[in-house]
Amino acid sequence: MCGIIGATSSRSVGKILIKGLHAMEYRGYDSAGVALNQDSEVFRLRSLGKVSSLEELMINNKPKAKSGIAHTRWATHGAPSEENAHPHGSHNEIYIVHNGIIENHDEIREKLKEKGYKIASETDSELIAHLIHLNKTDSSSTLEALIKTTTELKGAFSIAAISSEEKGKIYAAKQKSPLLIGKGIEENFVASDPLAIANITEKFYLLEDGDFAEITKNDIKIFNSNGEPVQREETKIDATPTSTSKGNYTHFMEKEIYEQPDALGNTINGRLGENDVLDNIFGLGSSDAFKKVKRIQFVACGTSLHAAKTARKWFEEICEVPCYIDFASEYRYRNPIVEDHTLFVTISQSGETADTLAALEYARAEKYVGIVTICNVPTSTMAREADWKIFTNAGPEIGVASTKAFTTQLAALMMLALSIAKSQDKNADKRKQATQELRETPALVDQAFSLKENISQITQNISTKHNALFLGRGMYFSIAQEGALKLKEISYIHAEAYPAGELKHGPLALVDEEIPVIALAPEDSLVEKLLSNLEEVKARGGTLYVFGNANSTIEVKKGKFINMPDCGDYNAPIIYTIPLQILAYEVACLRGTDLDQPRNLAKSVTVE
Ligand code: M6R
Repeated sequence: MCGIIGATSSRSVGKILIKGLHAMEYRGYDSAGVALNQDSEVFRLRSLGKVSSLEELMINNKPKAKSGIAHTRWATHGAPSEENAHPHGSHNEIYIVHNGIIENHDEIREKLKEKGYKIASETDSELIAHLIHLNKTDSSSTLEALIKTTTELKGAFSIAAISSEEKGKIYAAKQKSPLLIGKGIEENFVASDPLAIANITEKFYLLEDGDFAEITKNDIKIFNSNGEPVQREETKIDATPTSTSKGNYTHFMEKEIYEQPDALGNTINGRLGENDVLDNIFGLGSSDAFKKVKRIQFVACGTSLHAAKTARKWFEEICEVPCYIDFASEYRYRNPIVEDHTLFVTISQSGETADTLAALEYARAEKYVGIVTICNVPTSTMAREADWKIFTNAGPEIGVASTKAFTTQLAALMMLALSIAKSQDKNADKRKQATQELRETPALVDQAFSLKENISQITQNISTKHNALFLGRGMYFSIAQEGALKLKEISYIHAEAYPAGELKHGPLALVDEEIPVIALAPEDSLVEKLLSNLEEVKARGGTLYVFGNANSTIEVKKGKFINMPDCGDYNAPIIYTIPLQILAYEVACLRGTDLDQPRNLAKSVTVE
């Protein structure tokens, strides 16, 4: 989704800004732009498409400015175009970049038109530049005009602004959309994503909702909405260049798939004892608080939601508590009835997903026992808002398609189930088995990588198809859903997942000689049932690709049976995810898609 970077320095900032935009490309965008405070005017360049096109324009123009702002835009209001790209300006004086959505844009647009403002784009963002310009007429400073402007805005925003009259100065405002300040030596920065400036500084100030900032190369001033100075703690964020480069891999997604043994190791290390999880791994007081939990409400989006759906069985089996699971975008609109002793759990790789954050905010006012967050970004809003949390420690995930985030979320969810069961003294034998299996997971994931050769034998066929069907039963239905999501988002092949037993209730009509049917068949209590469902596919001439145990009795004549590593009941869902990730990746490579940044998608979805 959109990315903001601003820099003020004693050196020229053009390269810094372009590098920052490149570092945020993974978030997904359709256009990019830069506004530089140069000479007496602001010099602006914008281009549709990749940051490299903007970079070329910069090389041709060779700007020398020492301060400026830049942006990658992911269209919400108005089509992707050069006119709609940020920065937006007003009267060649005020220039802004904006992330988020201004909900009352129609009203503001009318007001500005009445005052004679000419609006050049279809965006809600441009209105902010004009409003600051308008408010400046009766303000003593640009900061005051910015503060006044934000009182008129409804919605979520992070803004960086410059004025042609104040070279070397950048203004910032934050409300419900991430923004941080980076501190350098004789240079300071503002960014919506720490990765944008990770190669130049490790020192950050995380702005809070309602914060404003005024930044020069030697000074960072942070204010509250009354314009009074406030202090924010200096935070160290270590996003090393190796974790944000592809290394020897062709794509970030490929690198992130193969990083999973290490990522999982980092999730569980220091959190497991001999036969149990350690106490308070979700934060001080969590083990005590979990004694009261009688039911759990999970809320998440996309892949993170699939993690909750997969893990439900662990909570029901090991903690003996029922679980409710909602799409974050739906949860608060169904006016959920919250029973006593319910724990609220959000799961999010980024910790910034707007739908999940809005659900968390709603839950805060309800009578939950407390809020737990499972997330990968320690500096995220969700991490700050939760009562208890666990970081998955997977390292930056750059590919839009979530891979290591998902498997590490599953490991963290297993640890949450174990923590609750331990607090309530339930099922010590199951806890012991699950703890041991968790420990074996990184090595098993490593073994699963050796399936790549077998998978390569089926990808050519799948890559030529328009549709694919994924089947599973029990927890493996959720893993099948994750497999289908992976395939559709990066290869653009339409893929659906069904609990195999549902096939005969409708989707069987889709099965013909053309459609590949991918089935997950671990030797669990449901495998016999699955077998008969697969017979229904065979009888219709369907091509089956089955992932199952070496001792399985499933016979595949048309298609392929792929032997999975020998895993336990608790870690198998994690291991069965791996071949589906490799399958989606290989198919997308054959189809030549832009798989790290698939069309229309964003990494961190910060709008509702
Ligand atoms: O950062 P989050 O985990 O909250 O993101 C939620 C979804 O947007 C995300 O999982 C999305 O579905 C992935 N791109 C799927 O690969």
